[in-house]
Amino acid sequence: MSTVDPQRRVVSGMRPTGPVHLGHYHGVLKNWVKLQHEYECFFFIADWHALTTGYTSTEQINSATWDTVIDWLAAGVNPGAANLFIQSRVPEQAELHLLLSMITPLTWLERAPAYKEFIEHNRENDRSTFGVLGYPLLQSADVLAYRAGLVPVGADQAPHVELAREIARRFNHLYGGEVDFTANSEAAIRKLGKKTGKLYTELRVAYTTKGDVDALATAQALIREQNSLTLSDKERLLGYLQGDSVAILPEPKAVLADNAAKMPGLDGRKMSNSHGNIIPLRAEPDDVAKAVRNMPTDPARIRLSDPGDPDKCPVWRFHQLYSDEHGRAEVSDRCRAAAWGCLECKQCVIDAIVAEQAPVRERAKQFEENTDLIHSIIAEGTEKARDAARATLEEVRDAMGLAFR
Ligand code: TRP
Ligand code: SF4
Repeated sequence: MSTVDPQRRVVSGMRPTGPVHLGHYHGVLKNWVKLQHEYECFFFIADWHALTTGYTSTEQINSATWDTVIDWLAAGVNPGAANLFIQSRVPEQAELHLLLSMITPLTWLERAPAYKEFIEHNRENDRSTFGVLGYPLLQSADVLAYRAGLVPVGADQAPHVELAREIARRFNHLYGGEVDFTANSEAAIRKLGKKTGKLYTELRVAYTTKGDVDALATAQALIREQNSLTLSDKERLLGYLQGDSVAILPEPKAVLADNAAKMPGLDGRKMSNSHGNIIPLRAEPDDVAKAVRNMPTDPARIRLSDPGDPDKCPVWRFHQLYSDEHGRAEVSDRCRAAAWGCLECKQCVIDAIVAEQAPVRERAKQFEENTDLIHSIIAEGTEKARDAARATLEEVRDAMGLAFR
């Protein structure tokens, strides 16, 4: 049985489809950096996911992959703390994708928002493939292969994590059963001793009958700290809390950044490579200045003397992210009173972004010229990832009747 504590594992991936930008940084990467010291983290380049929609133009995957790794390291991801690797180097993830495909109803995939949107935008050119339909299932396999409990992603990815939860639940329901599970669980409760056993039962009832999630968390913590229990009994009692099966594949949860939805692009829409409205994470200060100076502002502010309305200006969205309360009040006042020009207003944003990027650019230097170092970071991370995924797949194959011993 597994010794992995899913509540301590984190998995996330990023597609190598263009420069990492400030949207990635604020929406995802800052969370990675924060989580890496508290959890066992697996971060990977989702090159298979890049292929699903980009299979006709594969020439840049290689360079985008290495650039993305440099961006991560520059953002503060620490290879000493987190395992960094490339998805396609861990074939166990593909095997899990295949095995899970057997139990995944088509309708679950067809209703994924990203899939529906893709179909909507590609009606004429018939680019919908099996790979695109399977995209969220592949993503589920990415997470479940590591039995991770937490998945830091952008808000648009939350439905995919929800799918992973449903797949895990279905898998556990189909294959997590143990003959005499209830009797074995009750026997394990007796091993806890009278007092702890009673407490466990009370917490379990509070969760199963009233859905009390605090009781669930308390009970899980209680079981994890029972050093005298065997691992099998621990797994059993953890499974017994949530139903009648052992959780071979634990259900993951999405972790969203506080301001995930807020990072605007240069045109006011969400910052995204596909919109061409990004500021690259490692942009040169001059390029940042140029990009921000070219941003549209409140269209009613034609002359310096025309008062503006921050709510109609994409630059204001940047102030909301980069200026403190006092600064924001000042910007808003000056805009409405036509007390300063848009270029001055933009300069504050430029300064804030350039200052934010300074340590990032500085950290990037040691990696940009050192291909060997990057390659060895990835080689090491891949090995750790494979070990973890291999262990999961062994249990999954066993559970599905493919052990062949
Ligand atoms: N689909 C994600 C995105 O487009 C990338 C991704 C692939 C991912 N597999 C994952 C994210 C697993 C989290 C976990 O951003
Ligand atoms: Fe936008 Fe600032 Fe100009 Fe107002 S002053 S319109 S907030 S750029």
